[in-house]
Amino acid sequence: GGFAVVVVAAGSGTRLGHGIPKALVALDGRPLLEHALRGIRCAGLTGPVLVTVPAGDVELSATARAHGARPVTGGASRAESVREALTELARSEPACTAVLVHDAARCLTPPEVFRTVVDRLRAGERAVVPVLPVADTMRRVDDAGRSLGTVDRTVLRAVQTPQGFDLALLRSVHRAAAEAGTDPGSVTDDASLVEAHAPGTTVLTVPGHEHAFKITRPLDLVLAEAVLRGRAP
Ligand code: C5P
Repeated sequence: GGFAVVVVAAGSGTRLGHGIPKALVALDGRPLLEHALRGIRCAGLTGPVLVTVPAGDVELSATARAHGARPVTGGASRAESVREALTELARSEPACTAVLVHDAARCLTPPEVFRTVVDRLRAGERAVVPVLPVADTMRRVDDAGRSLGTVDRTVLRAVQTPQGFDLALLRSVHRAAAEAGTDPGSVTDDASLVEAHAPGTTVLTVPGHEHAFKITRPLDLVLAEAVLRGRAP
C-alpha cells in the first residue's frame, strides 16, 4: 500500500487576524493551502492527499480540488480534524498503510523534510517527527508567573510537521484517545498520542527545517514572504 497525506487546514486563523480560514490567507498572492499542496507534490508524494476544511467551507475545498487534493470536513480541534480524515481514508483508500499528517500552516516546508520522514517510514519506523533545537533559554513558571527554574534546552526540541505514521498505529491511538475521553483540544500533535496510547512505540525524531515554521501570527506572514522571495523561482 502507498502513502497518503492528510493536510490539516480546518483552523480558523484567529491569531492571524484576517477573519478568514488561515489556509486561505494569501502569501505571494496565493492561498497558504496552495503553497502547502505544491510542496507535497514537489516532494514526490503521489498518493492521495486529503485536506481538512472548516464546516460549510466552499473556497478552501475548491482550492484543494484545483490542486488534486480531496476536501474533508474537519472537526472542532486539530485532533478531531485528523480523526475525520482518517475515517475518510479508511473509506476511500483501504490499501493505504502509512500516512503523513501535515499542518497547512507549515506551507513552506522543504521537500527534503518530507523525503526524510518517508524514508524512515520505508525503513520500518512507525512514528517519525521532524524537530529543531530550541534557540531561546527555556523556563518553567507557575500560575502567577514566578519562575520554577531554567530547563536544560539541549534536551528539548521544537516539533514540526509532516509527522509520519504507520496508518494502523495512528488510527488506534486516535481511537484510544477518544475512548479515554482525552480533551481533543489539548492534543497539539499526533506523535503525542502515540506516546500516550501506544507506550513502548518509538517516536523517531529527524531533522526539521527553519522554513517549516508554522504561520500563526502576523509576523510569520512577513517572514514567509521573505522566505519566498529568497527562493529560486
Ligand atoms: O491552531 P493550530 O495552529 O495548532 O493549528 C494547527 C493546524 O491544525 C492548522 O493547519 C489548522 O488549520 C489545523 N486545524 C484543523 N482543525 C481544527 C483546528 C486546527 O485542521 N479544528
